[in-house]
Amino acid sequence: MFKTGGLLVSLEGIDGCGKSTQFELLQARLAEKGIPFIAVREPGGTAVGEGIRKVLLQTSYSLTTEAEMLLYLAARAELCKQIILPSLREGKMVLCDRFIDSTQAYQGYGGGLDLRWIKQLNWQVTGGRLPDLTFILNLSVEKAAERRGSSLDRLEMRDLSYHRRVQQGYLKVARQEPERVEVLDAAMAKDNLFTVLWSKLQPVIEMYYKMRSDHDFQ
Ligand SMILES: Nc1ncnc2c1ncn2[C@@H]1O[C@H](COP(=O)(O)OP(=O)(O)O)[C@@H](O)[C@H]1O
Ligand SMILES: [Mg+2]
Repeated sequence: MFKTGGLLVSLEGIDGCGKSTQFELLQARLAEKGIPFIAVREPGGTAVGEGIRKVLLQTSYSLTTEAEMLLYLAARAELCKQIILPSLREGKMVLCDRFIDSTQAYQGYGGGLDLRWIKQLNWQVTGGRLPDLTFILNLSVEKAAERRGSSLDRLEMRDLSYHRRVQQGYLKVARQEPERVEVLDAAMAKDNLFTVLWSKLQPVIEMYYKMRSDHDFQ
């Protein structure tokens, strides 16, 4: 951990599981503690990335899974080169609302693309920098749909079996990399879920700052 500098934390899970909610709570907690960080969301975070996000969420386009995956990777390439990797090199903490595992779960396990191909492309665009810690917010497809309500974008309109494959795919990713990935039960109330998330993240942040010894963590 921390070999390449900085601290990279990602939040993952199916749409409606509560990522953005926890992301907000996390940013508030870090701000309260005076811990510097930058927060990015995928796809997006750069001018080109936000343009790609619009293309991906348009209901009028029908994209092949390959094209969809490559658009996500293009957005990620920009985000990594322009923001994530330079910030990590400066020793900053970077929070990502979705990152590499979304591609494995959605286009790989959900869409049936070759998982090794995705892994290889992820490796290329991230320079091989894996997150130090990834939280997968695990929630049933039915509960997530309930939370999302009725207005669905292009990606959310897919059938239930697709979303189930994605949700199960996330759990497979977690089983493959247990040292990096923490699965949290996202069915909890948001404040309780955040308490669990913070209890896992806090020691990692403490360890990071102890190693750098240039910031008093309280
Ligand atoms: N723990 C929770 N319990 C109940 N509802 C939640 C919880 N977390 C988030 N929500 C609600 O569910 C919906 C989706 O949450 P959101 O954070 O946007 O999910 P995501 O970013 O993963 O798609 C929002 O309306 C949000 O207020
Ligand atoms: Mg969100």
